[in-house]
Amino acid sequence: MERIEAPEYEFTDQFDIMDRIAAKNSLRPVPPKAKVDTYGCQQNEADSERLRGMLSRMGYVFTQDEFEADVVVVNTCAVREHAEMRILGNVGALSHAKKARRDMIIAICGCMVQQKHMVEKIKKSYPYVDLVFGTHELQNFPELLERLLKPKRRRVFSVSDAQGRISEGIPVHRDRGVKAWLSVMYGCNNFCSYCIVPYVRGRERSRLPENIFAEAREIIASGYRDITLLGQNVNSYGKDLNSGVDFAYLIEEINKIEGEFVIRFMTSHPKDATRRLFETMASCEKAARHIHLPFQAGNNRVLKAMNRGYTKEEYLDLVSMAREIMPDIVLTSDVIVGFPGETDEEFEDTLDVLERARFDSLFTFIYSKRKGTPAADLPDPFTRQEKQVRFDRLLELQNRISAEKHAQYVGKTVRVLIDGEGESGEYNLSSRTSGGRLVHLMGDKALIGSFVDVEITDSTTWALFGNIL
Ligand code: SAH
Ligand code: SF4
Ligand code: F3S
Repeated sequence: MERIEAPEYEFTDQFDIMDRIAAKNSLRPVPPKAKVDTYGCQQNEADSERLRGMLSRMGYVFTQDEFEADVVVVNTCAVREHAEMRILGNVGALSHAKKARRDMIIAICGCMVQQKHMVEKIKKSYPYVDLVFGTHELQNFPELLERLLKPKRRRVFSVSDAQGRISEGIPVHRDRGVKAWLSVMYGCNNFCSYCIVPYVRGRERSRLPENIFAEAREIIASGYRDITLLGQNVNSYGKDLNSGVDFAYLIEEINKIEGEFVIRFMTSHPKDATRRLFETMASCEKAARHIHLPFQAGNNRVLKAMNRGYTKEEYLDLVSMAREIMPDIVLTSDVIVGFPGETDEEFEDTLDVLERARFDSLFTFIYSKRKGTPAADLPDPFTRQEKQVRFDRLLELQNRISAEKHAQYVGKTVRVLIDGEGESGEYNLSSRTSGGRLVHLMGDKALIGSFVDVEITDSTTWALFGNIL
């Protein structure tokens, strides 16, 4: 194996700062409180676990109530306008807490503030926001926070496009539970024409395999039973390391860690999915029988305009290959309705993909214009209502397919991981199959975190119901 140039550095200087802040906080009669709000995808959830890890190390305890928080961090998403509007609304509402407690610190970080126009907006219209830092500044959070803890404090804006290297060694504070996130890479190189992610997250950077394995072992040793490997396109993991490692290798190695647990991953881009990936999944008993394979649109002209790098036929071939190798695979996907210029006729191809691929479930989005992306400059002649009509048809078709697929489980015995308390009437436990299907159960709460065999007794569009055997 050739030498790997490590795209990373250790996080040591920030530890001194964290220790200084912790020392000050320890002198207070009660520990200060922090609240971290997270929007967007699992990558952001994983980043927030690092923010909490740093806060915890600095002596903060956590609260859900902004009126008692000394520090509020809002970790934002920019993927659709709706997400941004919600975030700005909630940041607006924080002004009440700030009025009640003038020394509180409000910080906004993440994808949304990686856009210049958003930083300007916050500077002008949200004067009570003290700190804004971008996705490439996460590891500098202690240093930025320390500047605000000084007596004469001024607003701090730290956003840049310089993506630097991956910081290893940032403390992580995971919620106690059954499931854990593990980022294997950051950024995206694909530039799908509608998508803001490459602009706000930078280029693909893979973590070194040994760091990933060390974290995986730690996660399993801490009692987590469901581990999700994260990246915007995990199928291109390792390409930037030039050492011959690929994503399938990560699955193979993590599969060797002792214990009963499930390995999940997301997201995998169809253009880079390979037979090797599917065969590895099939041969690794801990790999979940689930693949999330976003197709976005069914029409080849639209797929090209989206810059997705595959055709409808290639996508369907990939689905057939996955099912041939793993007949029991659960398949889920993402789709966008109303990409600029997508006609009613072209939309029919999207419905056709649903009929042919028969996804177990689907995440459906109406196209949202993102400033700075190529698609934002395309003519967009169809109205919101016209797109809504298509969206409703899509949902109706998918709901029928999901219900049919779920009905096929009734009478069967499946192995599930009980992952929490249930929210469905007398069914007091919730669990997931290897394929990620939700199964409501009745039983002792002490079973949370255990794998059990269940008989499926009933199903709906959204979930299954079962009895523990
Ligand atoms: N990297 C992942 C997707 C991350 S974003 C992948 O390529 O599969 C999650 C989903 O949001 C995308 O799959 C897409 O369906 C949707 N999405 C992204 N940008 C969007 C936009 N501008 N409007 C509507 N939906 C969008
Ligand atoms: Fe966005 Fe495409 Fe990258 Fe996914 S692969 S994050 S949709 S640019
Ligand atoms: Fe949103 Fe950023 Fe994830 S834009 S979807 S939080 S990578």
